[in-house]
Amino acid sequence: MTITPDPGADWVVRGTDRDEYTEVMRVVNEALLIPERPEEREHLVRPFMDAEGYDRVLVAVDGDEVVGTVNGFAFEMTMPGGPRAVTGVTGVGVWPTHRRRGILSAMMRRQLADVHARGDRYAALWASEGAIYGRFGYGRAATEMETFVRAPHTALRPDAPRDPDLRVRLADPGQVRPDLERVHREVAAVQVGQFQRAAHWWDRVLRDVPGAREGRGPLRAVVVGGPRGPLGYALYRTRGEREQDGAHGEVHVKEITATTPAAWTALYEHLFGRDLVGKVSFEFLALDDPLRHLLLDPDRAAPTLYTSLWLRLVDVPGALAERSYSVPFEAVLEVTDGYAPWNAGRWHVKADTGGARVEATDADPDLSLDAAHLGAAYLGQTTLDGHLRAGLLTEHTPGAVERLDRALHRARAPFCGLIF
Ligand SMILES: CC(C)(COP(=O)(O)OP(=O)(O)OC[C@H]1O[C@@H](n2cnc3c(N)ncnc32)[C@H](O)[C@@H]1OP(=O)(O)O)[C@@H](O)C(=O)NCCC(=O)NCCS
Repeated sequence: MTITPDPGADWVVRGTDRDEYTEVMRVVNEALLIPERPEEREHLVRPFMDAEGYDRVLVAVDGDEVVGTVNGFAFEMTMPGGPRAVTGVTGVGVWPTHRRRGILSAMMRRQLADVHARGDRYAALWASEGAIYGRFGYGRAATEMETFVRAPHTALRPDAPRDPDLRVRLADPGQVRPDLERVHREVAAVQVGQFQRAAHWWDRVLRDVPGAREGRGPLRAVVVGGPRGPLGYALYRTRGEREQDGAHGEVHVKEITATTPAAWTALYEHLFGRDLVGKVSFEFLALDDPLRHLLLDPDRAAPTLYTSLWLRLVDVPGALAERSYSVPFEAVLEVTDGYAPWNAGRWHVKADTGGARVEATDADPDLSLDAAHLGAAYLGQTTLDGHLRAGLLTEHTPGAVERLDRALHRARAPFCGLIF
């Protein structure tokens, strides 16, 4: 399918292939201000893309010139109902001379139609700017945090769970990769927002070219294990720094995860116990990460919040039907959707903890809202009540928003932790 935009426009949106991908990289690199030339990144990007495939890459072409592109990874990402097929939208860029002519809009429309035809009920992305994707029906669904902790004298609580049978091993990531994969597989299967990593994803996460180090040292893996195998790991780099008053080195943690409380404690004690270190920084943490619960002084880790996943319900009734709910809920939702018209209309939702029955109806709505609002609320962290107070949705039946928020609520914060 080729999408022809407004009459008079001189570009079209279509699929692409491996041969054209160097041109795609040229557009992405320029749009995203990536400092290297496409040829200089080819040896890194090609093996990754060869594994992913080129069939979900779309391009906008003006004559024979690629002037825009968007891609979608085929993820198995955990949603509130369990692991699901989710399109991970990525590689979005428009050639600078062709901006604001509707090219992204046309690519988004085509991509949503493709995702829907493929049967994925969700699309997710990390946005370069928060103003871009709401209009396409994406909602701000997950907030995560970065933080740092001054290392000397940082203590965990005396009652933090400690297990003398746990062993801590520091190694090159390649040496312990099976352990990392095993722990992550287990975590990603239940952590809403995480996706399962195929081999080429691990290659990417563990890639340790000097350009990726930002002045720090090689990537290290610390693995905590018990008699029955690995229970947690952290990936980090260090940077040495000395001033007149002593050492001010840094431990920079790229990823940390564990499957038992004692493993979390052991990982944090390893990181805070490194000598010559003045600061331990964490790039990606869930809002409810154990760190601040385990620190003797939780305020030592002042969080900086950022939006991680934007979520798009590509199939609104399907996504609502296959979710689990905290409490039963019943209402008629009137949904608008400017980019996926199959979602627009009134839906009678009768939800229980195990799922929901969702049927088209003509009944009067209890609540009118956009697909983007449902995308924002779907992971159970962003409330619809905030949207209501901002005047962005309409409640016809008093209390409908509060009841839906309560049903969508999830105790555990969503967490992706890896920009794709
Ligand atoms: C973001 C980007 C892809 C938009 O492409 P585009 O073809 O100019 O977008 P469109 O012309 O389809 O714009 C559609 C609408 O979104 C708005 N919009 C687009 N990008 C925007 C931005 N960065 N901030 C605010 N609004 C934006 C446009 O103003 C337009 O609004 P309108 O319909 O009210 O006039 C392009 O500017 C780009 O390549 N930016 C740099 C790379 C980047 O940030 N990519 C996204 C990675 S997640």
